[in-house]
Amino acid sequence: MSTYNETAPRKVTTRRLTEMKARGEKISMLTAYDYSMAKLIDEAGMDIILVGDSASNVMAGNITTLPMTLDQMIYHGCSVMRAVKRALVVVDMPFGTYQGNSIEALNSAIRIMKETGADCVKLEGGEEIQESISRILSAGIPIMGHLGLTPQSINKFGGYAVRAKEEAEAQKLIKDAHLLEELGCCAVVIEKVPAALAKRVAEELTIPVIGIGAGGGVDGQVLVMHDMLGINKGFSPRFLRRYADLSTEITNAVKHYIDDVKSCDFPNESEQY
Ligand code: KIV
Repeated sequence: MSTYNETAPRKVTTRRLTEMKARGEKISMLTAYDYSMAKLIDEAGMDIILVGDSASNVMAGNITTLPMTLDQMIYHGCSVMRAVKRALVVVDMPFGTYQGNSIEALNSAIRIMKETGADCVKLEGGEEIQESISRILSAGIPIMGHLGLTPQSINKFGGYAVRAKEEAEAQKLIKDAHLLEELGCCAVVIEKVPAALAKRVAEELTIPVIGIGAGGGVDGQVLVMHDMLGINKGFSPRFLRRYADLSTEITNAVKHYIDDVKSCDFPNESEQY
């Protein structure tokens, strides 16, 4: 976390995101869960870093995001915040910390903001969690919404298929998106829905709509870092573009190191004291 007097690059704020949308500048967003990767991603110029509860999958190896706890999200949030100077940092509120009642939701959000120093929290859902959203916002905590395929509801959906293909679900998504804007959310993530629907929502809202598997008609894009860097090779949905093949790179480097140790090639004279 930057100290008060430190000179830092101009920080991305929730207000700046709305300005970016207004002038048609696309918003870049990527997940990070630890200090070293967050530092690289921030220094590369990312607008938003999401400390996603996808940490449950890519960091902890769980099948769903449901096991993630508030303490675990705070641990990841703190690690990321120690690295980031410019990007807006959003921390996911984990499953079970905001759906029960709005007081619990507020207390969870306050813990995230106080203990990590992050800029914003993200919650999954619309009308069903309206009370929690209002109470958190009333404490001055910015909220990013998340609609469409909401991974914390995966057991209700029964799988990771494209959402809102049917008219009734599409209409609910549009209504929920407007509700999130009216309540005061600063942005909304829309995951895995038809591109035409996501575009319509982005055109109707003033706040930025960030898509994942939602086409190019929205105001920005988010991906999970491990997926786009090719660390996690087992996951290859149609919407994912891989920008690197780190799984091959890392495996080759590790094998090379093993060979060098076994053959006594490492360490050599210049690599010892
Ligand atoms: O947890 C996460 O990584 C997310 C993204 C998929 C948007 O919520």
